[in-house]
Amino acid sequence: MAKPNGKTALVTGSTDGVGRMVATRLGEGGWRVLVHGRDRTRGEEVVGKIKAAGGAAEFLQADLSALGEVRRLAQTVERATDRLDLLLNNAGIGTGGPQGKREESADGYELRFAVNYLAGFLLANLLLPLVKKSTPARIVNVSSLGQQAIDFSDVMITHDYSGMRAYRQSKLAQILFTIDLAAELKGSGITVNCLHPATFMDTTMVRQFGTPISTVEEGADAIMKLATSPELEGESGLYFNGRREAKADPQAYDAKARERLRTLSLQLTGLQK
Ligand SMILES: NC(=O)c1ccc[n+]([C@@H]2O[C@H](COP(=O)([O-])OP(=O)(O)OC[C@H]3O[C@@H](n4cnc5c(N)ncnc54)[C@H](OP(=O)(O)O)[C@@H]3O)[C@@H](O)[C@H]2O)c1
Repeated sequence: MAKPNGKTALVTGSTDGVGRMVATRLGEGGWRVLVHGRDRTRGEEVVGKIKAAGGAAEFLQADLSALGEVRRLAQTVERATDRLDLLLNNAGIGTGGPQGKREESADGYELRFAVNYLAGFLLANLLLPLVKKSTPARIVNVSSLGQQAIDFSDVMITHDYSGMRAYRQSKLAQILFTIDLAAELKGSGITVNCLHPATFMDTTMVRQFGTPISTVEEGADAIMKLATSPELEGESGLYFNGRREAKADPQAYDAKARERLRTLSLQLTGLQK
């Protein structure tokens, strides 16, 4: 039976894939887990599994393809808990396959940029006051090895669209954001790190258009390390490939690019007019 550790985690996209496994493991480890996704039935199944093992969990439903829903999710989290020791931005959509057509979010932004990056950017910023109440606390962004430099003249990829490019730029944007936020939060007791969990894990995202070559367990191990390992206490602004620290695409280390992305993201999310 799980012994409560007094800590609360929000795991976005934990109705499926690696997020579901991480949520279950956190529950087994005594965390109170806020399980998130779009599908209530699958969400309640994850909650049921955590509770059956003696843990504490509840399901929060929100579609991250609308910034209004991200804001509503943040408010629901604030009502549900007075502390947030771990924010795990994991929810994401894949490339859409070779024939995938360009899609837009409810706010008219390129869909992968909106769901994979902008939603996590807004959620983290809205929940920062709550996370600050729970220090030492961690923010972990689940990115990918698939990265492509953002073309600031066409961030919404209105020309030469490909789902691969859209996915990769959204995943690199998460890394720029991680480094940026870590610098902003230096000395606050909140660390921010990101990772590529594992390559082609056996998840819905991968099975749709490809063949899995690694297990969900492998990816969950890597995420759990960033989320909970005492080894990483105080370490911030880092990118990991699996369980090892690694170098991301060079654009991640370009301070001007990070500033450009931050300014744009503040505008797009309405955090700064
Ligand atoms: N699989 C890999 O090999 C791999 C490799 C590198 C990085 N990653 C990253 O790992 C993370 C998890 O991927 P996965 O492979 O576990 O994928 P998955 O099995 O397809 O699960 C994706 C999760 O994200 C949620 N989600 C998707 N779109 C959403 C939206 N609009 N609003 C709210 N929730 C949404 C899904 O919720 P629903 O239940 O509502 O669909 C689901 O819980 C992603 O960020 C992905 O980019 C995966």
